[in-house]
Amino acid sequence: MEFLSNKPLLITDTILRDAHQSQAATRMRLEDMIPACEILDSIGYYSVECWGGATFDSCMRFLNEDPWERLRAIRKAMPNTKLQMLFRGQNILGYKHYADDVVDAFCAKSIENGIDIIRIFDALNDIRNLEQAIKSTKKYGGEVEATLSYTISPIHSEEYFVKMAVELEQMGADAICIKDMANLLLPLDAYSLVKKLKETVKVPIHLHTHNTTGTGDMVYLMAAYAGVDIVDCALSPLANGTAQPATEALVATLKGSARDTGLDLGKMSNAAVHFRKVAEKLKAEGNLDPKVLNVDTNTLLYQVPGGMLSNLISQLKQAGKEDRYYDVLAEIPRVREDYGYPPLVTPSSQIVGTQAVMNIVLGERYKTFTKESKAMLKGEYGQLPGKVNEEVRAKAGIKPEDVITCRPADLLEPELPKYREEFKDIAKSDEDVLSLALFPQVAPKFLDYRDHPEKRQPAPAAAPAPAKPAAPAAAPAASGEVRTVYVEWKG
Ligand code: CO
Repeated sequence: MEFLSNKPLLITDTILRDAHQSQAATRMRLEDMIPACEILDSIGYYSVECWGGATFDSCMRFLNEDPWERLRAIRKAMPNTKLQMLFRGQNILGYKHYADDVVDAFCAKSIENGIDIIRIFDALNDIRNLEQAIKSTKKYGGEVEATLSYTISPIHSEEYFVKMAVELEQMGADAICIKDMANLLLPLDAYSLVKKLKETVKVPIHLHTHNTTGTGDMVYLMAAYAGVDIVDCALSPLANGTAQPATEALVATLKGSARDTGLDLGKMSNAAVHFRKVAEKLKAEGNLDPKVLNVDTNTLLYQVPGGMLSNLISQLKQAGKEDRYYDVLAEIPRVREDYGYPPLVTPSSQIVGTQAVMNIVLGERYKTFTKESKAMLKGEYGQLPGKVNEEVRAKAGIKPEDVITCRPADLLEPELPKYREEFKDIAKSDEDVLSLALFPQVAPKFLDYRDHPEKRQPAPAAAPAPAKPAAPAAAPAASGEVRTVYVEWKG
């Protein structure tokens, strides 16, 4: 078999973001990152993904860390490597649509504090939701990696994704990312899609997958044959399973070939020594369950992201309905079809998953809807990829004339002045205003902790290991009320 490119394959390492987000509930601390930054900086990666996704929320919610300070510290410790972040289009790093001025300010501040590359995606692949973030990233001198949220459905054909990539390139993307958050992209399909994209668009193609279903390494090798420019890997101590395939394995595989990465396995081994200790610590804290390393073929059968499955189990446990697990698994694709086949990624994965749980647990389909589920059917998140089941939409109380067809953010007035006013007593900077705007339930408590050390309680001498994070999303309560609670299911 011949390589369709003879350029060295470039590697982005996700050890500081997606790897611990996917394996360890986003709990790696800055103090566990900084000692390795000098080595990471010397390896010669295309970029290191270190910010965005769920890390921002997790910093404040669980770690009492200022996410902006984390970014500045990493920037300082890694002066030679491009820093990359994950950005949810018009949702920024939150779970709803923000006005354009907030998106613009967030891009500006991310770049000002040290980000080089912003990977921008939309859960529904509605490119109108990427417009503002693309424009702002370019305006402030950042590089745009515009993203195809990969999924499988009757409407998500290879042609669909190639057409979308062409549109994103025309919108000014500096690179196109194929974001295979659920590891659904199979090796031979990866070869075909990458080959077609390389024939069609001029900008580099960056492939992101996970090893949830066990195919990740094969996906990267086939994509390398097809000429993919950059792939996302994670250093071995936090690689594989629900995280990215291991960097070292791919580097060794390509050694001496036309696509030799040129990266030094010795340096990686030194960095791995450090991160093995970090992984041990995360395990001891109860934040890394070795089960995440198992190959999970349910994803291949049900096309449900691996991270979603374990959360469904906890939701059903809370409702005392564990025996309905397979019924829920079968219900998810049906809900997805009724909703026009949205890809399952934050926030659509939580919305569709929660609806499926409710349909089963309440014993009647679409007896009730969460606020977010209605909003999605109404078009508040953008255009759903396929045809929506109008009967379901009517059950949600949405009339055809109420469906939003314009870019949802066009309906939002500028919000930044309002946030500045609202938070003027507790925000010390524009960065703080943005933290508060995105996480109004979490940021005030964190800022109080940060700015008032005198109020802090001394830690108990022998702190018990924290329990696993509370089960996210939609615990159907005894009252029958179900809420969508957003905890990252997949990055
Ligand atoms: Co990911």
